[in-house]
Amino acid sequence: MTLSDLPALRTALLAWFDRAGRALPWRVGPEGRRDPYRVWVSEVLLQQTQVARGRMYFERFLEAFPTVQALADAPIEAVLKAWEGCGYYARARNLHRAAGVMAREGVPTTYDGWRALPGVGPYTAAAVASLACGEARAVNDGNVRRVLARLHGERQPTAAWVQARADELLDPTRPGACNEALMDLGATVCIPKAPKCGECPLRRWCVACQLGDPASFPAPKVRAAVREVRAVALLLGDAQEAVLERRAGSLLGGLMGLPTEVLEEGESEGDALTRLAARLGATVAGELGTVTHSMTHRRVTLTVYAGVGGPARSRVTEAALSRLDHKALALWEQRRASLFAPA
Ligand code: ADE
Repeated sequence: MTLSDLPALRTALLAWFDRAGRALPWRVGPEGRRDPYRVWVSEVLLQQTQVARGRMYFERFLEAFPTVQALADAPIEAVLKAWEGCGYYARARNLHRAAGVMAREGVPTTYDGWRALPGVGPYTAAAVASLACGEARAVNDGNVRRVLARLHGERQPTAAWVQARADELLDPTRPGACNEALMDLGATVCIPKAPKCGECPLRRWCVACQLGDPASFPAPKVRAAVREVRAVALLLGDAQEAVLERRAGSLLGGLMGLPTEVLEEGESEGDALTRLAARLGATVAGELGTVTHSMTHRRVTLTVYAGVGGPARSRVTEAALSRLDHKALALWEQRRASLFAPA
């Protein structure tokens, strides 16, 4: 693969995309002139979610907030509620803040304009600028990294190396299509474990394919250790109306959820539960079960108890809850009969 191969390689990539690119709900409008709002929301969502799940969340979010103005006008609690399940709630808060800026100052039409908005990093700005504004900006995400590492036979691609390779490959006449072609190729053909090289439009230039073991490129990243967090929660009420608290600290900070205490170093579950019940002025009735939830750097094991007493209940369906809390509340339906005899 040399620089002189680039024109033929771009042609092959774009012809493949025109034939095999995916029809996705944010790919609305002419190439390079997509609806910037849809592109922006989808890119923020897809940073933490696979396309299959992201699609569903996207439809739900767009139904709740069809335009920048609708998002800007909404109360933050409604935005968090529509973001439920998508993780990283700071992203929903930034979407809301950025929508407020756009409602006042207009929707940016350049990379630099997008980059200046709250929560918009180089990746999102490049995606929106290329897909919605036709600006020649190359995106650099996990799929692009894998495709380019294999194409060039690079085992240890740095972020700067990937950006330089993506920049040189970008077709300045169709930057948005070129970016999405690499994303789709990475998601459907040049997949992590068993790449489908027989279907790949870039096969004749691909060094990793020629070496015979494309799946070994790039070398796996050394991951930071996952921290185990143990906590206890108290369900005071039922799955419809329960005591909810705004979480602070390490456990899903900022969202509403069941009252919880994280076990301190060396602390038993019983002691943490006593601490929790005392804080709430509640009495524990029995254990509902244990749920787990994995995030990028943390795995939470939460033992959920039912109890009586304590402060006022809130309506569960009106609050934005984490997936961990939904799992905890689901235990109520499964186990309540064993704890509380029917009246
Ligand atoms: N992943 C992130 N952004 C994407 C897009 N625009 N199309 C497909 N997959 C994506």
